[in-house]
Amino acid sequence: MKKLFVTRELPKEAMNYIKDNFELRANLDDRALSKAELLEGIKWADAVLCTLADKIDEEILRANPKLKCVSNYAVGYNNIDVITATELGIAVCNTPGVLTEATADIAWSLLFAVARQIVQSDSYVRAGKFKGWKPTLFCGHEISGKTLGVIGAGRIGKAVARRASGFNMNVLYTNRSKTTIDGINATQVPLEELLAKSDFISLNIPYTKDTHYLIDKDQFKLMKRNAILINTARGACVNELELVKALKNGEIAGAGLDVYEHEPEICPELMNLENVVLLPHIGSATTETRNTMGFLAVDNAIAALDGKMPKAIVNPEVINN
Ligand code: GLV
Ligand code: GLV
Repeated sequence: MKKLFVTRELPKEAMNYIKDNFELRANLDDRALSKAELLEGIKWADAVLCTLADKIDEEILRANPKLKCVSNYAVGYNNIDVITATELGIAVCNTPGVLTEATADIAWSLLFAVARQIVQSDSYVRAGKFKGWKPTLFCGHEISGKTLGVIGAGRIGKAVARRASGFNMNVLYTNRSKTTIDGINATQVPLEELLAKSDFISLNIPYTKDTHYLIDKDQFKLMKRNAILINTARGACVNELELVKALKNGEIAGAGLDVYEHEPEICPELMNLENVVLLPHIGSATTETRNTMGFLAVDNAIAALDGKMPKAIVNPEVINN
């Protein structure tokens, strides 16, 4: 059996699937591995199944000449040095498609939570402060009929946009490629126009050097004062300090975040703001999706080790080369 090093325990069904297919070495402690531990595991393995919290850099990739596959348990792969991996003939795989709906649901959960002050309302009730109905209690932002701006029209962006039709919203979107969002009332516009017209703005782009700080000081200035920004993509697509300033100065009304620029560290000022909802990067966190991501990550590794084309591979040029 081939050897698979798993950097973090996965849900049970996915772990069982690994055991059926590989000689397994897994990190069973409930914490991220140190670089030394990562190196040690990688040196033993034919393939590694890692998470977005593992930085797979050049040193790690060069540590074992027998390493054939880095199978990322995520759709985003900005944690991996793909250029070096490709040069070394190591397949880099990811898990697109299977987490689309769960992630779109989290974007909408954040949108609702910020717009309707769900988290503060819950705390209020638990603190015993609810003394009866009143017309002015927790008045939030109307959602139906408003404009949703979706930045990025990949699978997740489309799924976020599709959900808006249930709320009779006007949808604007930007996209780098020629993909359009069809079947719903959605209009492709330049980023500046989207920022200026949207009441809710959802980021659904990968993190690359082109999307670093896509939302920065100048972009906040374009937004409406009632705008709510939702980020379920990657933290550094937004300049977090400028976000804090925009929230504090009332340039925008609120933010819902599942990801952070220096994850898991969070800018302390964000923690003190009332108009934000902060989640611990749980976009794909449903039991169904997390198992399915595991099956796909394992299938990707099996294919790569057999020299076959994995279902989801970032650098297909390494197979059969
Ligand atoms: C999660 O953030 C992912 O990229 O899958
Ligand atoms: C998600 O799976 C995406 O590629 O947008």
